Amino acid sequence: MLIIGAGAAGMMCAATAGQRGRRVLLVDHATKLAEKIRISGGGRCNFTNRRVGPEHFLSRNPHFVRSALSRYTAADFIELVQRHGIAFHERDWGQLFCDDSAQQIIDMLRAECNDGGVDWAMPAQVLTVSAAEAEHPQGARYLVDTSVGRFSAHSLVIATGGLSIPKIGASPLGYQLAAQFGLAVIAPRPALVPLTLAPETLSRLAPLAGLSLEVEAHCRGPVFREAALITHRGLSGPSILQVSNYWQAQAYTDDSREPVALNLLPGVDAEHWLLEHASARTLLANLLSERLPRRFAHAWCELHGWTKPMNEFRHAELRLIASTLSGWQLAPSGTQGYAKAEVTLGGVDTRDLSSRTMEARACPGLYFIGEVMDVTGHLGGYNFQWAWSSGVACGQAA
Ligand code: FDA
Repeated sequence: MLIIGAGAAGMMCAATAGQRGRRVLLVDHATKLAEKIRISGGGRCNFTNRRVGPEHFLSRNPHFVRSALSRYTAADFIELVQRHGIAFHERDWGQLFCDDSAQQIIDMLRAECNDGGVDWAMPAQVLTVSAAEAEHPQGARYLVDTSVGRFSAHSLVIATGGLSIPKIGASPLGYQLAAQFGLAVIAPRPALVPLTLAPETLSRLAPLAGLSLEVEAHCRGPVFREAALITHRGLSGPSILQVSNYWQAQAYTDDSREPVALNLLPGVDAEHWLLEHASARTLLANLLSERLPRRFAHAWCELHGWTKPMNEFRHAELRLIASTLSGWQLAPSGTQGYAKAEVTLGGVDTRDLSSRTMEARACPGLYFIGEVMDVTGHLGGYNFQWAWSSGVACGQAA
């Protein structure tokens, strides 16, 4: 078996296959192993989530993830982490992080690969990949030419990940190989990514860069109640990264995308609260400062032209303000792109793959695992869990 890409999914697959006696070669062009794992989770790797389920993933083929996720679960990975004596802790929403360092996860995967007798060709540039002739003497089905020589393999696994953070080794090779072998690729897009705003809104908000507030964000999908962060170019923070997946996904079906909606006062009946203060002489912005950061409240009121005292608003106006507070519609101008994205939406169309083995139906012996496929998890350890589960599914079958 030859695996291109020694990241999260590639190493998991290599260890699984190697430990069941398969001869495995891992090929990667990077000079440092698994840089994405090293920088993940702020250096502590949010390696899985206690609440993994298909509802935390986006894909054109939403049921595809069920089989692999149910056969190699978060509990299975937690057991592996514990077996390696790695201390970890749980944060909000079931997210699990290493206490010390993401490097421990890399070391664990490398040790598991060593247990399986996995060989490495790293760094090695992949030059060409081709189908072997039917009568290949060793029964190989694929030939891979690299900067360190030619390799042949009965099974070829593509684990090259997505396009985010190009400076640490992301490349489109996986999509190119899929196309070469006739598989459909759903156009990749940056996801879990900060959103940019148009100049009219940005001119009011950018001076507040660095300020964060708890919101409920949604865009044709689940509601995410987490922090939103104002940046020099627009919005970021966990709630915005989460909702960016859904905002981006609309591009596949709609020319005019629905805006992102933010509830700035989660858990508050905004209309009731404003009407209660309808006769107050205080400025609306000062009232809002009771529940929102003061500088934000003032900028937000100026942005909408709502700069009067409370008692000068008609009730109908207060109702409009309340509905804007609980459903502020923002049309992003775009995203901050792959340089800032955690993951890639889209990828190899899973409708062409087996959900049990990850093998391409039309190309026996060719497999795709991890982020290169059209499976994108929510923020919170889900993308690594997909790398582990799809890697194991393939490693057990190929
Ligand atoms: P991964 O990117 O891990 O590995 C791909 C490998 O292929 C790399 O080693 C690369 O060098 C190699 N490769 C690429 N092109 C090649 C070529 N042409 N030739 C040879 N080799 C090639 N997820 C999560 O669940 N919890 C978290 O805490 C985080 N945090 C996080 C932070 C940041 C900053 C980013 C960018 C991403 C995350 N993620 C995350 C997402 C997570 O890192 C990602 O989903 C997984 O690493 C995907 O695993 P893969 O093995 O598919 O790709």
